[in-house]
Amino acid sequence: MAASVRDVARAAGVSVGTVSNVLNHPGRVSPQTVERVQAVIAELGFVRNDAARQLRAGRSRSIGLVVLDIGNPFFAEVARGAEARAAEAGMTVLLGNSDESAERERAHLELFREQRVNGVLVTPTTDDIALLRALQAGGVPIILVDREVEGETFASVAVDDVEGGRLAASHLLEIGRRRLAFVGGPRSIRQVADRLAGAQAAVAEHPDAALEIVELPALTVLHGRAAGEQILARPREQRPDAVFAANDLLAVGLLQAFALLSEVRVPEDIALIGYDDIDFAAATVVPLSSIRQPAHLIGATAVDLLLKDLAGGGHERAVRFQPELIVRESTAG
Ligand code: RIB
Repeated sequence: MAASVRDVARAAGVSVGTVSNVLNHPGRVSPQTVERVQAVIAELGFVRNDAARQLRAGRSRSIGLVVLDIGNPFFAEVARGAEARAAEAGMTVLLGNSDESAERERAHLELFREQRVNGVLVTPTTDDIALLRALQAGGVPIILVDREVEGETFASVAVDDVEGGRLAASHLLEIGRRRLAFVGGPRSIRQVADRLAGAQAAVAEHPDAALEIVELPALTVLHGRAAGEQILARPREQRPDAVFAANDLLAVGLLQAFALLSEVRVPEDIALIGYDDIDFAAATVVPLSSIRQPAHLIGATAVDLLLKDLAGGGHERAVRFQPELIVRESTAG
């Protein structure tokens, strides 16, 4: 079978975008790389097929995006940011939802490979990223969204979740709370593990404070509600006086349990802070304090990194935004 541009890229150890530049804009590439790629082209007998290239370019002006939970407004906003930026570049975004399932994630990635997308933006469900490495080796640029993975060559866009967790717990400690609870999802989700680590670091600076961990199967409103009911079932003196929820959906569920099922007052009896600062956070019956992530900007920046990869240009490999504390009534005073 005739060699493809991806075969050339792999053999020369460069990105598909670099091969494209050698063919179309050699001035953008170092002379040494031009020479190496041209040698591989000659060796493999690669012949650019303009009709196929135009068909490819026409057919797959698309980018694959796999998010953890499309029901979470945070990821919906990430997708909106990615789509807006992709549209400016004449591309479209194919959206896949893994629902925090590694199997669902794999199915979407395989489909994107078959669809010959220009690149893949993904929030991995686990640290097992063998398939992502295989995709990248096959010439499909990968951008990690809302995640970083140490020691990997993937570019990434994320918020410093350890700092975000520290900010949330420090805020609860600053308003005088000492019996903290971290209500999160599986610690296999890196965002959850990092937020917890930040909270633990803040609590460790206060010998009179304690942080219990409530680990749930997923980060949804229903699981947050169940966690709230579990807390209410305890004797008053065994309840936390503050809760840091790993995302706003959990915080909404906790608030629903406290407000509807008990005499517990927020923040007087239990202060409550979430994470993401989704639009609903400000609209809850007791407006939620939260740690803001620039979701739309994260999505747009991920596409920017991908476009730079495709153009064969270099760029910052790990873009890390800083989280922002948003204080509202649920932790006031
Ligand atoms: O999916 C879990 C969480 O990770 C989301 O709520 C968002 O905070 C993301 O960073």
